[in-house]
Amino acid sequence: MPGPGFYLIGEEEEREVLEVVRSGHLFRYGSESDPNFKHKVIDLESAIRNKFNSPFGLAVSSGTAALSVAFAAAKIGPGDEVICPGYTFIASMSSIIFAGAVPVLAEVDESLTLDPVDVERKITPRTKAILAVHMLGNPCDLERLKEIADRRGLLLIEDAAQAFGGKYKGAYLGTIGDLGIYSFNIYKTINAGDGGFVVMKDQEMFTTAFGYHDQGHLPQRMGVEIGNRTIIGHNFRMNELTGAFVLAQFRKLDRLIAQLHRIKTAFKGHLCNKPGIGFRTINDVEGECATLLTVLLPTKAVADKVAAQLGTKTISHSGWHVYNNMEQILGKKQATLGPPFNSVEFPTTVEYRKGMLPRTDDILSRAINISIGVVDAGLGSAFGVNPLSSNEEILSKAEQFAATVARSL
Ligand SMILES: Cc1ncc(COP(=O)(O)O)c(C=O)c1O
Repeated sequence: MPGPGFYLIGEEEEREVLEVVRSGHLFRYGSESDPNFKHKVIDLESAIRNKFNSPFGLAVSSGTAALSVAFAAAKIGPGDEVICPGYTFIASMSSIIFAGAVPVLAEVDESLTLDPVDVERKITPRTKAILAVHMLGNPCDLERLKEIADRRGLLLIEDAAQAFGGKYKGAYLGTIGDLGIYSFNIYKTINAGDGGFVVMKDQEMFTTAFGYHDQGHLPQRMGVEIGNRTIIGHNFRMNELTGAFVLAQFRKLDRLIAQLHRIKTAFKGHLCNKPGIGFRTINDVEGECATLLTVLLPTKAVADKVAAQLGTKTISHSGWHVYNNMEQILGKKQATLGPPFNSVEFPTTVEYRKGMLPRTDDILSRAINISIGVVDAGLGSAFGVNPLSSNEEILSKAEQFAATVARSL
């Protein structure tokens, strides 16, 4: 049930983590003159910054924490609206709510990422940001989303939790908007069980992000800072064990993504030109992560039949990531989401209803995720292959899929 990085866990992760365990220094801060301080989190931050060409980077405890940090850094709060897709993980929406702002749900298109036309429709005078979620490793149409954000004076924030290492037109996902976030939970490209990361371009945003993630302290928290803390913050720090593990996984990123592309190309090649089988739009074929192969079938009835025979589910029925299945949000007006939100006056026009995004509903009801690297029933990818699958296994699963579709048309 894990993400692709899981399959490559080996001696390198063991070595990195053991170094920290043997040193006994597990906290992210330490003195350069202390030989026991292995500065894994700091090394991870500079490794990601350098590879992704991002001016600022901050390691945190999860992707959800990274989203909260990003919204704090962007100064998003009560009275603001943030446009996000109806197909995403709940954290994309809940972190907006925890910021005191209002998530406004927009349709996805056949890329299964934000539909720029609907985004533009959802903009109001209260809109502060667009949250572009690169679902299932596929880049959003960033060119159009960025054009809209720039023209309408909005921030563009990238939720690249599911797309660490992916690129759009040559730039790493997360680094194109004003801020970007990643997750290192077990389902993600690389993982450490849990963990997250935020990238941004602006010094002031970084200072706020750092303080928000660590009790208001200034970046790198060197020494006692009484008198210097301008905000209150949380503890969303990453520890050295996690930093060490992610570092080892990070060094395998290029190899991993190349392997996923090889497998996906082979799998897709076997399905191309087969009757009834279409694919979601990929906004950057070379840049996507290739963690999943999403097939679009002609009707919901065919898709349901195929999924049942393969022991999997269509995306609409897969659980966690579809707004229609989020009972925490459905039926609520923003003002009734509960404390601390009900202490703030919100526009009562924003509400969350089953069926409110008909285009998204139609696409997801016809979509089946085939696992390439992310084997996760919660995403609907219980059927498929994994990064260690042989060519024979890839061929056999592809033939099984095509034959099942042919029988179900
Ligand atoms: C799109 C998206 N955003 C945010 C998150 C939150 O990440 P985490 O589980 O590390 O808190 C996830 C995790 O599944 C996700 O898929």
